[in-house]
Amino acid sequence: MTAFQYRLRLPRTPLTVDDYRSRAERILPDMVWSYVEYGAEDLTTLADNRTAFDRYRLRSRVLTGNEPTGLETQVAGHTLSLPVLLAPTGILGLSHWSGELGAAQAAEKAGTLAVISTSASYSFEEISEGTRRSHFFQLYPWADLNAGRHDLTLSLMQRAQNAGFQAMFVTVDVPTHGNREAERRRGMGRPPIVTPTRAMECGLHPRWSYNFLRHRRIAQRNLVGSTGAKAAMASLDTAYTMMRPELDWSDFSWIREHWSGPVFVKGILDPDDAEEAVSRGADGIVVSNHGGRQLDGAPASLDALPAIVERVGAEVEILLDGGVRRGTDVIKALCLGATAVCIGRPYIYGIAARGPQGVEHVIELFREEMHRALTLMGVDSLRDLGADRLLPAHQVLR
Ligand SMILES: Cc1cc2nc3c(=O)[nH]c(=O)nc-3n(C[C@H](O)[C@H](O)[C@H](O)COP(=O)(O)O)c2cc1C
Repeated sequence: MTAFQYRLRLPRTPLTVDDYRSRAERILPDMVWSYVEYGAEDLTTLADNRTAFDRYRLRSRVLTGNEPTGLETQVAGHTLSLPVLLAPTGILGLSHWSGELGAAQAAEKAGTLAVISTSASYSFEEISEGTRRSHFFQLYPWADLNAGRHDLTLSLMQRAQNAGFQAMFVTVDVPTHGNREAERRRGMGRPPIVTPTRAMECGLHPRWSYNFLRHRRIAQRNLVGSTGAKAAMASLDTAYTMMRPELDWSDFSWIREHWSGPVFVKGILDPDDAEEAVSRGADGIVVSNHGGRQLDGAPASLDALPAIVERVGAEVEILLDGGVRRGTDVIKALCLGATAVCIGRPYIYGIAARGPQGVEHVIELFREEMHRALTLMGVDSLRDLGADRLLPAHQVLR
């Protein structure tokens, strides 16, 4: 397909998350796209996150007289206008210069919240100055063993708390970096390798290149004081060298003690881990395999959800992320017991394609799709969603 034919095939205003995906792929240089889109090793878990949703069908009833009254949901004591939050995604400034600040502002406009990564390209302070609501803070429990074991973690937590963040997500599925070969093949290793061919390829994406050079929002701003390429390299080194496989549940207890607001544990796939987290004071669980970017061969998030809901769902809120691309996906996750979902790549596609406006539109697409699907199912409230609303795919109804 020529570039011209490709353009003709794209609708003027994206109609779906997948339309945004096509745009983002066209706008971003190959190196950046590989960072956003791919996962670990053979991409098995990445693919499974999507196909897991296809294993279910929705049970609809007709002539119920029901119309959905609203999608409002409470997460960690915050009211959201729909059960969709923005997942933490590091160095969003690579995809669009407005980065996490633009995404959080868009989330606010749409009535929801963003989870801001430790690895964000805007600092916690910048986010809180530029937004009105208290967004969520995502902590990587890294450790500088040459200093005190918890020095870095504590300073990140204190800064986030001082900046007004109330709820914290502790990401526990990165004891080491996932093996993302597809990224490395395209030069996105540590350090990134920019060959003349790759630099030329970036030049073929003029809008992205212009904004990249103008704003230089590529460093992890919570780890370094500035934003350019040198700072980006320094922050990458810090992040890599501070990942600690030796951290254990006692470290989580320490973190819990030092944070006064709600704490969610992100990256749980096993009910035993969920139970351990809850017994150590977690207020919520995020069922997640990091979007298929860490352990390839880990189960799809949706497949891991029911057992975790059964074990701790009565005690804490359970969120899910991984592969959510449609309003009907959100509905399926809610039927299986999730309180809400987080989306990662969908809003990165949105911001890459159209900046913060694209993020807001992606959230609105989820809202419209959910509302329409609930109407078609004959459901008037999210409270009515349960496992009895799902059927296994291809089951013959009797
Ligand atoms: C480009 C990218 C960067 C990410 N960075 C982080 C991060 O800094 N912290 C974190 O906890 N998860 C991170 N994640 C994982 C997401 O929070 C989330 O678990 C995942 O994207 C959900 O899957 P989805 O992209 O299919 O929606 C990242 C994901 C992507 C795609």
